[in-house]
Amino acid sequence: MVNKFNYSYHPMIRFIAAFMFLWFSVQAVADTGKPATPDEIAEGKRLYESYCLTCHGQAGVGEAPIPKYIRAPGYITAMPLNETSHAWHHSDEQLVETILNGLQRTNRMPAWKGVLDEQEARAVVGYIKSLWSPRILACQGPRHMSCM
Ligand code: HEC
Repeated sequence: MVNKFNYSYHPMIRFIAAFMFLWFSVQAVADTGKPATPDEIAEGKRLYESYCLTCHGQAGVGEAPIPKYIRAPGYITAMPLNETSHAWHHSDEQLVETILNGLQRTNRMPAWKGVLDEQEARAVVGYIKSLWSPRILACQGPRHMSCM
């Protein structure tokens, strides 16, 4: 009997192989848990101070909370991006994605696509990571659950 899968792989296997290839290539470029280069940090700092500081504060300390009774409904203040909040629970990829595409839950965090390209968004992430202590950085991303 001729096995029709002899010469070409089953589409499902091809799909899984393609998925795994993409997954591992994404993993390979992600620098989650590792510091950025000094050049990248310097560029990221410059970009951060132009575009992010107004809300996320000097060195990522976050926006001062606004008392509920004077805050417009649904108005969300910008959380710290230093290690006191949970920015470090996200991988580099997730942070880049948030920066480029913004957040669904609030239009106060805009999509920066068109202002920043991917490489610039990565530099900003590199700067944000430079605000974390080595211990927090080492626990960045999915591993934060089991790391601390
Ligand atoms: C107009 C104010 C504003 C500006 C400017 C702004 N953000 Fe935000 N950002 C927010 C708000 C508000 C949130 C959501 C806070 C929340 O959900 O509690 C947020 C959330 C985020 C988050 C998600 C953090 C997390 O832990 O989930 C990241 C990352 C982020 N901002 C990065 C940036 C970067 C980088 C820039 C500059 C390129 C920037 N933001 C500029 C207001 C701003």
